Amino acid sequence: MHSRALSVSPAPAVAVRATDIVKRYGGVTALNGVSLTVTEGEVFGIIGPNGAGKSTLFDILCGITKPTSGAIEVLGRDVGHMAPHAVARTGVARTFQRTAVFADATVFENLRYGRHASFRHGVLGRIVGSSSCRADEQAFQERAREVLALTGLDGDRDRRAGVLAYGVQRRLAVGVALMADPKILFLDEPAAGMNGRETADFIALIRAVAPGRTILIVEHDMAVIRELCGRALVVVDGRPVVIDEPQHVLRHPEVITAYLGADDE
Ligand SMILES: Nc1ncnc2c1ncn2[C@@H]1O[C@H](COP(=O)(O)OP(=O)(O)O)[C@@H](O)[C@H]1O
Ligand SMILES: [Mg+2]
Repeated sequence: MHSRALSVSPAPAVAVRATDIVKRYGGVTALNGVSLTVTEGEVFGIIGPNGAGKSTLFDILCGITKPTSGAIEVLGRDVGHMAPHAVARTGVARTFQRTAVFADATVFENLRYGRHASFRHGVLGRIVGSSSCRADEQAFQERAREVLALTGLDGDRDRRAGVLAYGVQRRLAVGVALMADPKILFLDEPAAGMNGRETADFIALIRAVAPGRTILIVEHDMAVIRELCGRALVVVDGRPVVIDEPQHVLRHPEVITAYLGADDE
């Protein structure tokens, strides 16, 4: 205990830092000066009405879209000019707002896709069948078992993804993202369309996978934000309104107005 009291704990490392991000699509300003710093290990929420710029911000933070101006640093690297696959290799994975599992493929085949999406060896490497590819296959099988257990999908391993309940498909989408064992996980409206039971299962899943990871989550379900996130950013019309603990954020006057004013929620 004594030596611990004497040691100086290092400042927490930055997982994601965005500085003054602006994104314009022709005449539309999707983001107008958004800055945020997420430290390693945080579960960080992003909320705001439809069209506020949340998905655009996600696309920029994980390198899919380039900002019109502003800087993005992920795990200490400037990713503003990196190709999306290169950013993925730094340890970033995401799920999309509209569920992207392959309905005609089995759960297990979907997990294989998650592995490929992040992996060194393409199809050619597999045909050549190098020993490192065999090692990859073993690693894949092992990781798939872990992810099936984590997501509670063991029993559904060989079922077609398309026949699974909607909430289960969304859990599978998280499982696909987890195959790469990402250091940073981006989830875009993961609980949208889930019923109460599915949402509770989903919250438990994210709690289980959060240790050792940084998670950024866009979500309309405020219960999910309150349960999971230490801090949340509110975006309205592409502007950052506030970053604070969920309980404070949800009481912010502009948040209340934005949500009451949004008739499409
Ligand atoms: N590829 C695009 N081309 C043109 N406009 C876009 C594009 N992507 C997003 N937008 C616009 O940017 C704004 C923010 O969109 P989005 O980031 O999807 O919001 P949110 O995820 O908060 O609902 C919207 O006005 C949307 O129409
Ligand atoms: Mg969106």
